[in-house]
Amino acid sequence: MEVKVKVFRFDPEQDKKPHYESYTIEAEPTDRVLDMLEFIKGTFDGTLSFRRSCAHGICGSDGMRINGRNYLACKALLKDLHATHITIEPLMGMRVIKDLIVDMEPFFDNYRRVLPYFVNDDDPPAQERLQSPEQRERFDDTTKCILCACCTTSCPSFWANEKYVGPAAIVNAHRFIFDSRDQAGAERLQILNDQFGVYRCHTIFNCTIVCPREIEITQAIGEVKRAIATGSLE
Ligand code: SF4
Ligand code: F3S
Ligand code: FES
Repeated sequence: MEVKVKVFRFDPEQDKKPHYESYTIEAEPTDRVLDMLEFIKGTFDGTLSFRRSCAHGICGSDGMRINGRNYLACKALLKDLHATHITIEPLMGMRVIKDLIVDMEPFFDNYRRVLPYFVNDDDPPAQERLQSPEQRERFDDTTKCILCACCTTSCPSFWANEKYVGPAAIVNAHRFIFDSRDQAGAERLQILNDQFGVYRCHTIFNCTIVCPREIEITQAIGEVKRAIATGSLE
């Protein structure tokens, strides 16, 4: 089928402002948007810039806006977009470095703020730190995050104020807050209880809708809010 692809282009070393370029290509319904970008880069313009690595929905590097909604380009099949005109733009609310590549550093700064690692200062046991299947299940969903930023950059609260820590950081805080072996839950809850923390979330759900890992993000944020309000991790 014939597809018209409109791509956001911006090279700050040459362009005063961004513009769009359009390409007409032949594609199969089972082609992914990443395939189309690779084709355009290989056929029409080698300077087109975008991030990708695994091409299989694992590395999280090719988050972008496709017809107005965030996807991983490697997981967005043409047939699922139900369109023959495709507009591809960088993630919103982030500085564009070039074309579809955005500066992810502020996103990772917010991620680092929530101590996204295991904390336990007790001496290690002889074998392992035991945990029941129920305790492990408590945070299973939030272990699946691949840090693609699709959630945070689809959140109107983040667009309104980029200092909002954002759903991705809260998901990664949740993963450790509710881990029975971890000891820094209270500290993370305190970090998330500031003016740019969880209460910037107004339950808009965009994050949950776009998450390529189908994480119940809004629910996880609600659990963190409840833990702050009650002081309990139950
Ligand atoms: Fe991406 Fe989902 Fe993780 Fe957000 S929670 S960064 S959308 S994988
Ligand atoms: Fe934003 Fe998701 Fe909350 S879209 S407002 S973080 S539910
Ligand atoms: Fe790795 Fe898409 S290229 S998730």
